[in-house]
Amino acid sequence: MIANQWYAILPSKAVKADRITGVKRMGLDLALFRNSKGELGCVVDQCTHRGAALSLGKVKDDCIQCPFHGLEFNKIGQCTFIPANGTSSAADISRYNVRHYPVREGNGIIYMWYGDEEKIKQDLPFFDNEIDDSYVFSEVEDHWNSHYSRCIENQLDVVHLPFVHKSTIGRGNKTLVNGPKVIWEDGILTTSANNEQDHGQKPRSPEECVIKDTHVSFMFPNVWVNHISEKIKVIIYFAPVDDENTVLYIRFYCKATSFRPLNSFIAYIGKFANIKIERQDKRIVITQKPKASALRSDEKLLPGDGPIVMYRKIREDLKKTPPYKEDL
Ligand code: FES
Ligand SMILES: [Fe+2]
Repeated sequence: MIANQWYAILPSKAVKADRITGVKRMGLDLALFRNSKGELGCVVDQCTHRGAALSLGKVKDDCIQCPFHGLEFNKIGQCTFIPANGTSSAADISRYNVRHYPVREGNGIIYMWYGDEEKIKQDLPFFDNEIDDSYVFSEVEDHWNSHYSRCIENQLDVVHLPFVHKSTIGRGNKTLVNGPKVIWEDGILTTSANNEQDHGQKPRSPEECVIKDTHVSFMFPNVWVNHISEKIKVIIYFAPVDDENTVLYIRFYCKATSFRPLNSFIAYIGKFANIKIERQDKRIVITQKPKASALRSDEKLLPGDGPIVMYRKIREDLKKTPPYKEDL
């Protein structure tokens, strides 16, 4: 896991008022809830008293109340009340505090800060310069039995297109992989497929290739966009569950027409296209061994794997510095 990053972990709509959402992310069992102002809290889903799952409790007075003996915790995990001690008790109960994780929301996504609190960054990773309110979007989620690094690499892989997506986006038997060109700039990794049919010609080098209008970009640690056109984009955020599992949230963004309801309809249809393509990927990617990718491995990579090598290098660098004191 890369430390000191905001990870997109859930859609905002997954945490509703007066309900606690129990979810596993980053290998941690978490309980998320909203206080009466709609502000999010994210605490470890394990009561400090005798270990019950807080996510089975309820939201009460802006706190999460444990279902077992009623201890209450606020959105930053501070224990605010122990019913068994009575309302007259003035004892210091801070030793009952549960661990919390900072969470923020943007673009309908919940981000969790995985790192040292004093290193929190202001900006949440998202393609703000690409997507604005003029777009509408649909979203679909799917669970993959893969480490998130494999899921991300799959979205940077131009070599798989004519094989995995033979019937969809990889039609045309374009098996010869030119380049691809890869750019790493302003914290964004960008590449585009330059594949063509093999007529015996030599593949072009990355330097001889260009980034096309239709291209993909990735922002660490886990948000990706496919710029299909000026008016159609697909965004995926890859929520790490644990070392072997990831939930992909796939959005189809559309502003193809000036009529918003029609754009919503196109986005709705786009969802099914996304599902079809994503299932083609998933079938293969979940079989990759080992589950997580690594810069140094026994894999024999191809020249066309340039974007994947770049991803691995940057990931390796980010993992080195700065260390997170609680990173496992
Ligand atoms: S286990 Fe939570 S209050 Fe006892
Ligand atoms: Fe794919």
